[in-house]
Amino acid sequence: MADKKVIAVVGSTGAQGGGLARAILDDPNGGFACRAITRDPNKAQAQALAAKGAEVVKADIDDVDSLKKAFAGAYGAYCVTNFWEHLSGEKEKAQARNLAEAAKAAGLKHVIWSTLEDTRKLMAPDDTRMPMLQQKYRVPHFDAKDEANAYFAGLPVTYLVTSFYWDNLYSFGLGPKKGDDGVYNWAFPMGNKRLAGIAVEDIGKVAYGIFKAGSQYIGKTVGITGENLTLDEMSEKLSKGLGVTVKYHAVEADAYRGFGFPGADEMGNMFQVYRDFEKEVLGARSSDAARSLNPSLQTFDQWLAKNKSKIALG
Ligand SMILES: NC(=O)c1ccc[n+]([C@@H]2O[C@H](COP(=O)([O-])OP(=O)(O)OC[C@H]3O[C@@H](n4cnc5c(N)ncnc54)[C@H](OP(=O)(O)O)[C@@H]3O)[C@@H](O)[C@H]2O)c1
Repeated sequence: MADKKVIAVVGSTGAQGGGLARAILDDPNGGFACRAITRDPNKAQAQALAAKGAEVVKADIDDVDSLKKAFAGAYGAYCVTNFWEHLSGEKEKAQARNLAEAAKAAGLKHVIWSTLEDTRKLMAPDDTRMPMLQQKYRVPHFDAKDEANAYFAGLPVTYLVTSFYWDNLYSFGLGPKKGDDGVYNWAFPMGNKRLAGIAVEDIGKVAYGIFKAGSQYIGKTVGITGENLTLDEMSEKLSKGLGVTVKYHAVEADAYRGFGFPGADEMGNMFQVYRDFEKEVLGARSSDAARSLNPSLQTFDQWLAKNKSKIALG
């Protein structure tokens, strides 16, 4: 353990960080050790990582001093913020600033910042196709992450641009819902454009590949996707894989924003960006890059075969 490079994994009890923590722990001869950061070392996910050999350390990304202690002595850190816990672009930036400050204080040799692009750059400020949210953002959880890139400048950082998790189908309530006629329906403002998607476990495996490759990726932006599929293609694969009929409905973005669930306006804007700027969004992500860093990168069908029992069709 002492001669291993310690990676402090923020979000270790969650989807992205959990994938990285498991990738490190599943490769005991890989030269890296996992320091799992969590606000609650007693929670089941943290205990499961401890049982696999992780050092579990308590820290809160709202508390920079706790982060400085948690990063001390480490070689690297995986930095991720959870927008969906507070839905605030400003808070997400403040958390990212804390992560970067702690990384600097600890003198880390390699930091991965899990980021997304600034969608405001795709539209003129007076473009009326979608509303501005929180005064200044088009898609707050994208735009704020990109703004936060600046905090990491000057650090040995890799900017990891992620994609839509297919796991949202079971973990984020985005799966198709059963109608009275027995057909499963889902609606997005995606027209017939392709969505860049990925199995979230693969994000962590890519991150592990980046740490293993070391200096090659420092100062670089790596955009990753598993597979880019239209919603009709995904519906066809789900129908086949789950033995049901899944039907996609292309709705207008305004209608989606009006659905009323928390974050509906944010998600409406996000899917509209995927739809209206398909070329730019897909162009910023590569499955070849992801596969070169993680040779076991899954396709949608492979992900579905592994996860179908989790997709509780409601
Ligand atoms: N869903 C998607 O399709 C998608 C796609 C691309 C990017 N993203 C981005 O992914 C991010 C969320 O990552 P995820 O999906 O891996 O999250 P997740 O599964 O919901 O887990 C959240 C993780 O963040 C940690 N965390 C949250 N607040 C913290 C705090 N104040 N201090 C310390 N740790 C904290 C939690 O740790 P503890 O609770 O144990 O402390 C937990 O490990 C979001 O910002 C989202 O925008 C999502």
